[in-house]
Amino acid sequence: MTATTVAFDPRDLEAKVKDMYRAVAENPQGEFHFEMGRGLAERLGYPPADLDRIPAESIASFAGVGYYFHLAGLKPGETVVDLGSGSGMDTFMAALHVGASGTVIGVDMTDEQRRKAERLRDAGGFVNVSYIKGYIEEVPLTDACADVVISNGVINLATDKQKVFEEVARLLRPGGRFAISDIVTEVQLPDSIVCNSTLWAACIGGAAQQDSYRDQIERAGMRVETVEDNPAYAFISDNAKCASRKYGVKSVSILAVKA
Ligand SMILES: C[S@@+](CC[C@H](N)C(=O)[O-])C[C@H]1O[C@@H](n2cnc3c(N)ncnc32)[C@H](O)[C@@H]1O
Repeated sequence: MTATTVAFDPRDLEAKVKDMYRAVAENPQGEFHFEMGRGLAERLGYPPADLDRIPAESIASFAGVGYYFHLAGLKPGETVVDLGSGSGMDTFMAALHVGASGTVIGVDMTDEQRRKAERLRDAGGFVNVSYIKGYIEEVPLTDACADVVISNGVINLATDKQKVFEEVARLLRPGGRFAISDIVTEVQLPDSIVCNSTLWAACIGGAAQQDSYRDQIERAGMRVETVEDNPAYAFISDNAKCASRKYGVKSVSILAVKA
């Protein structure tokens, strides 16, 4: 399958996504289509004791959609790549799991998100965490560099998800794990939603139908082992809630393993 055909200019979508997540980094108290912050993280399953050990400002700007660390099974010493690392909450969580001998690399295209994550990393002494500017469709890292690739609420934003999954497979060593949470749908979204770049940027318009999402992961050379629904995740604007009810827009957590 190729990239989804969208009726808007992909540069317009990139600008909207960057605007939205610049605001998430700089003004997490603002109004968004989606919930953020510690209350959400706890409801999704992040252990409060772990959250207590990472920077509070990264939790305030947490815009993920699920918890997947129980699927990722991170071990001390492992190398983890976080696609769309935002203000860094999951990179800090991963750093707790992989310990001082491990490495965590966050990739994000939005400068304000990376800068905030870097500031919090430096203040918190997370010396084994680094951030690079890049697109998840073309990650500036070498083949087979990662034991685990993680991502939270990001891949739905990509117009070419197959390309993203192929990048994940390229980054993983054989037997490496891909553990994520993302937004999918039960039924294919109609053009009126898919062609609205504002709804894409809000993590709705780009959500793929769940079976085709899974097929795309497998086509990239990974075996899907677990798929869990995250009923604790809910959209908050009326627009988003309506699309969610009508088309089964929902959050899932997935574990896949590279063959
Ligand atoms: C919904 S936020 C999630 C951030 C983080 N994972 C979290 O849980 O808080 C999406 C993030 O992905 C980044 N992003 C979206 N599309 C991207 C792309 N194609 N390449 C790189 N980063 C992207 C945005 O800049 C934003 O920081």
